[in-house]
Amino acid sequence: MPEPRFLQIQQVDAGAERAVARAALLAPRASIAPKYFYDRLGSLLFEAITALPEYYPTRAEARLFERHGAAMAQAIGVVGTMFDLGAGSCAKAAGLFPLIEPARYVAVDVSVEFVREALRRLHREHPRIEMTALGMDFSSSLALPAGLSHGRPLFFYPGSSIGNFTPDEALAFLRRVRSQADGGALLVGVDLVKPRQVLEAAYDDALGVTAAFNLNMLRHLNGVIGSDFDVAQWRHVALYDENASRIEMHLEACAPTLVRWPGGERRFAAGERILTEYSYKYTLDRFESLLRAAGFTQTRCWSDDRGDFAIFLGLP
Ligand code: AVI
Repeated sequence: MPEPRFLQIQQVDAGAERAVARAALLAPRASIAPKYFYDRLGSLLFEAITALPEYYPTRAEARLFERHGAAMAQAIGVVGTMFDLGAGSCAKAAGLFPLIEPARYVAVDVSVEFVREALRRLHREHPRIEMTALGMDFSSSLALPAGLSHGRPLFFYPGSSIGNFTPDEALAFLRRVRSQADGGALLVGVDLVKPRQVLEAAYDDALGVTAAFNLNMLRHLNGVIGSDFDVAQWRHVALYDENASRIEMHLEACAPTLVRWPGGERRFAAGERILTEYSYKYTLDRFESLLRAAGFTQTRCWSDDRGDFAIFLGLP
């Protein structure tokens, strides 16, 4: 097979991104977009989160793929092109290659640089699969370059990142996938509703790794927009809102704080919070309804006995 292809179809408009980030800090309810978690250190911290005893989703999902991967592959059928949304290290998709045997693999991530090394390695291990890295922000649009998909597509979205969208955003995202998945399928990982103590521990672990992950955002943002956040003046807060079925992560000012950046500033009172992430948790019924509302007429679901996590298959 030819060497992997690397396509970056959206260039980041750094000026526009800075303007959006500064406006979000000035909004009545200040927020920082979750994408600012993931600089180099943030990605390493996230990697560490997935190994924490309290953070169950990664292990629960891996167990489901181990136990039911063969049944999933059978239900999916023949796959021409496997699109791995948010591919990162490509490890989860690679684990399914022996079962799903796609003819082509497209690793989609915001930047092709995030997947370059992993894709080269994967190509050496699976030289018969045609591989492409596609750099695009699939959270806002899924307009794939013409000619990329051959045969039945499988959209693969593991890790429960679907929970980082609001339910309305998740529905819009699933509709976009559905419109591209004609004759194909979607395999998506979903974190499930569970007791508050379990959820809050998963997002506020005893070692403080999630706190570091959240606080690191301030350092990252300082580099991007030129702000002067002092990390020591902020603390990590993670709360489960049962009515909304979501974990909310915030950064809370420990004392009155003035934050400045070129052309602007904002005063935060002690205890004032900046929203950094939602992580929605679903019941099996609620997620199935979402898939159906998005136009998937057949669904299957594999979940563990404890009801920790689910993997859904949606077919048009
Ligand atoms: C990436 N995403 C699925 C994680 C989650 O669980 O919502 C992000 C995360 N935030 C704190 N811990 C993990």
